[in-house]
Amino acid sequence: MILAPSILASDLGRLADQIAAVERGGAGQVHVDVMDGRFVPNITLGPAVVQACRRATTLPIDVHLMIEDAERYLDAFVDAGASSVSVHVEALPHLQRAVEHLRKREVRPGVALNPSTPIGSLEEILPEVDFVLVMSVNPGFSFQKFLPPSLDKIRRLRDTLRSRALPARIQVDGGVHLGNIRSVVEAGAGIVVAGAAAFAGGDPEGSVRALLEAAG
Ligand code: DX5
Ligand code: ZN
Repeated sequence: MILAPSILASDLGRLADQIAAVERGGAGQVHVDVMDGRFVPNITLGPAVVQACRRATTLPIDVHLMIEDAERYLDAFVDAGASSVSVHVEALPHLQRAVEHLRKREVRPGVALNPSTPIGSLEEILPEVDFVLVMSVNPGFSFQKFLPPSLDKIRRLRDTLRSRALPARIQVDGGVHLGNIRSVVEAGAGIVVAGAAAFAGGDPEGSVRALLEAAG
């Protein structure tokens, strides 16, 4: 299981230190939440911050695009140093073209699903992606509560992938903490994002270590 701390919940004034701390704790990726104030009701980070992350660590940088018109910005995030990029099904009419473009640029493509978006909407794209991001909160903010039906959705996605013998991994994002990370992993998550649970306690290294331990 890979733990991906979301820097949105970190002390951004000390970004490089915060990334170094989660790396020491055993994080496997750095998760960057990009929001545009249109697809979601919040505005966050852009390519410049991805570039700063890229300089701060050798860990893969995972960019989660919660923006409209994402196709226009794919190259900017790839050029800034993204290792993987997820785009939302709800925000992109030409999802396949975006996924193919990311693949061509040698970045791992992922597709993200809001809580109310059914797994079935991925039927055609599933063979082409490296991972599916199951949102377990409505995207927009860190520090939200995990939505319980997400567990069943993760299981059903895992079953779908197995029955079609597809290699895509499942990433889960939103409201994961020490008390539920094990059930998230048991349901089928291979990559788990943690914002508040990684950074809010003021000891990101220890928090990441504890999350990995709790994950089993
Ligand atoms: C939510 C973001 C998440 C979020 C995670 O819109 O995509 O990555 O920052 O933070 P927590 O773990 O606090 O829910
Ligand atoms: Zn995210």
